[in-house]
Amino acid sequence: MTSTPVRLGAPPARRVGEDRLAGVREPSVDVGAYFDLDHGLVDRTIFSDTALYRQELRRVFAPSWLFLAHESQFKKPGDFFSTYMGADPVIVTMGKDRRLRAFLNACRHRGMRVCRADEGAAKAFTCSYHGWSYDTSGKLINVPNGEDYPAHFEQDQWGLIEVAQLDSYQGLVFATWNPEAPPLREALGGLTWYLDAMLDRDPEGTEVIGGVHKWVLEGNWKLAAEQFASDWYHVNISHASALMVMSPTGKGPKTEIVQTPGRQYTDPLGHGHGFPTHPKSRFDDRIVHAHTDYEALRERLGDARVEGPMTTGHGTVFPNFSYLPVNGSIRVWHPKGPDKMEVWAWTIVDKSAPDEVKDAQRIYNLRTFGPSGIFEQDDGENWSEVQATAHGFVAGSMTLNYQMGLGLESEDGIHPGTTGRLYSDGAARGFYARWRDLMNTPAWHEKAGGTTGETSGETSCEKDTS
Ligand code: FES
Ligand SMILES: [Fe+2]
Repeated sequence: MTSTPVRLGAPPARRVGEDRLAGVREPSVDVGAYFDLDHGLVDRTIFSDTALYRQELRRVFAPSWLFLAHESQFKKPGDFFSTYMGADPVIVTMGKDRRLRAFLNACRHRGMRVCRADEGAAKAFTCSYHGWSYDTSGKLINVPNGEDYPAHFEQDQWGLIEVAQLDSYQGLVFATWNPEAPPLREALGGLTWYLDAMLDRDPEGTEVIGGVHKWVLEGNWKLAAEQFASDWYHVNISHASALMVMSPTGKGPKTEIVQTPGRQYTDPLGHGHGFPTHPKSRFDDRIVHAHTDYEALRERLGDARVEGPMTTGHGTVFPNFSYLPVNGSIRVWHPKGPDKMEVWAWTIVDKSAPDEVKDAQRIYNLRTFGPSGIFEQDDGENWSEVQATAHGFVAGSMTLNYQMGLGLESEDGIHPGTTGRLYSDGAARGFYARWRDLMNTPAWHEKAGGTTGETSGETSCEKDTS
């Protein structure tokens, strides 16, 4: 586990939406008709329909645990990082008590973003519209012309809206607006065994280096999330030119890579991880590879993990956090409407690795899965092209085939939980089963007497000059 000296937030005293004047009134659609997952069929409407997009913000993103940042991004009180939970802007702060908190980045007066910087350090967040100011624990600490407010104005009731729960797993910080969500560890389910192949290699834990790369893609966020959970099928075709560049002969991938053996893990909570189990499927950077003590890793994580999920695979934590263990990429697919996503990607490294190894990992990750990476470019092109052809009524509502590997999932006695073949749509079917079930279940904020979540807080993006 990481030794990063951060504390994690306690549940806020107030919840999102406690003070709402009216409950959620948007109509909801039964999405069951868009799926026949027993036969591997998915209606393409789920990728382009605006009403379904609004519903997934309410019923998939709002209730789920969502990735915010890595603990190593916060080193001292006042450090903050701006991100999104679904389409909601949020600020993650380290308070004076070193506790991490996350708030809706929206002023309680008229809704302006109170922090317009990507990251930094601040003593307070002062809204640039009328000057309401919030501290790093979300508390409203200054209201200009306060004497003009009525006697019943209670300043302490107008702090920033805080997430209902915030926690971290092996350095990864997640939060949810949902006060009824199970604890993070429970929500990650059986995926932790697979995730630990990336996060628990080093007794010191992990850290992120080199900042955050952000880019916009045409394409629904689910296209990327399902692919990282599931799709090894595209690798040899879509990435043929990249594999050729990386092959030792320059003539392309060897047969054993093209026909690579492997498994694909499907979690009932919608997570997935696909991985080759052939040693020649590793494409490590040579410096990183030379530094890695595989025998020690076998001791720490077991042979099955070193030979499986630690290879050149990829995974998704439902709904929109994905990772590549060998490349050292962790990323979020932020939804930006049904047709667009914004990718935010970090390079994650083992904390105790020497600096030259960390830097080699960073450069290798950029070369392969940075915004112009030789693999990333192929994937982005696919998602954008798929989205572009979905705009017509006929093309946009046809049935898609998710039948690969159907009926071949099992417990193999080596990899925990349900796994299927590497070349399979199994984890994609699992991803959409979870998405469908959440879409068809009223979220906590839709229940009678339910609330949508809120708080108190510390940041104006006033620079901390102390
Ligand atoms: S919107 Fe008026 S002070 Fe923030
Ligand atoms: Fe890919």
